[in-house]
Amino acid sequence: MKMTEQHADALKDLLTWRRDVRHFSQAPVSPKHLDQLRAAMDLAPSVGNARPWRIIRVLNPALRAQVRDEFSRCNAEAASDYSSEKQEKYLKLKLAGLDNAPEQLAIFTEIDPSEGHGLGRKTIARTLEQSTAMAVYNLWLTARALNLGVGMLSILDPTRMQALFETPAGWQFTAYLCIGQAEFDDDTPLLHREDWQANTRTNWETR
Ligand SMILES: Cc1cc2nc3c(=O)[nH]c(=O)nc-3n(C[C@H](O)[C@H](O)[C@H](O)COP(=O)(O)O)c2cc1C
Repeated sequence: MKMTEQHADALKDLLTWRRDVRHFSQAPVSPKHLDQLRAAMDLAPSVGNARPWRIIRVLNPALRAQVRDEFSRCNAEAASDYSSEKQEKYLKLKLAGLDNAPEQLAIFTEIDPSEGHGLGRKTIARTLEQSTAMAVYNLWLTARALNLGVGMLSILDPTRMQALFETPAGWQFTAYLCIGQAEFDDDTPLLHREDWQANTRTNWETR
């Protein structure tokens, strides 16, 4: 299939308006959209085609409450690492949309999958986690195309998340995703707006 300038323009719009979303409405995500998000992960690249991502759709309110508690604990611990002014600023940031997001996914990576037969990961083992990140990004961009927002949450202890979800021994926690309709659209990261970390330009060094 030959892509056109319109494809490139549409992709640029998606990249520009994809943001990490922490402010969600509680409106449910349709089964059709959920399936489109799931299928987007099928199309992701992965080392040796190992497809090591393992996904749990978290519906159980008790599990959700435990994830929220775990976030609060880790976030308080993270805040305590900063001093005075920076800590005050950190505590004002909204770093998770756990209270409202209608869909929540716990994302794990299988660290020794038989799929892929080891190709590519013998030299760089973390390519498995990198592959999972690619699948997450496929989902993230697809969500934006469907006017849905995604928030990626990493302020959670991996070992506790694995215990909470009673995952098999080979599964490593990668991230937690909140998904739903964003309360507002933005073309600028919240952390830039809140003066935590400005956007910088990507430079390509030439040698
Ligand atoms: C691996 C990864 C982990 C992240 N973890 C968190 C998180 O725990 N909480 C949060 O608010 N944002 C998290 N983010 C989102 C980033 O803060 C966000 O991508 C960055 O500030 C740029 O903003 P943008 O995604 O809106 O462009 C994470 C993003 C990535 C890629």
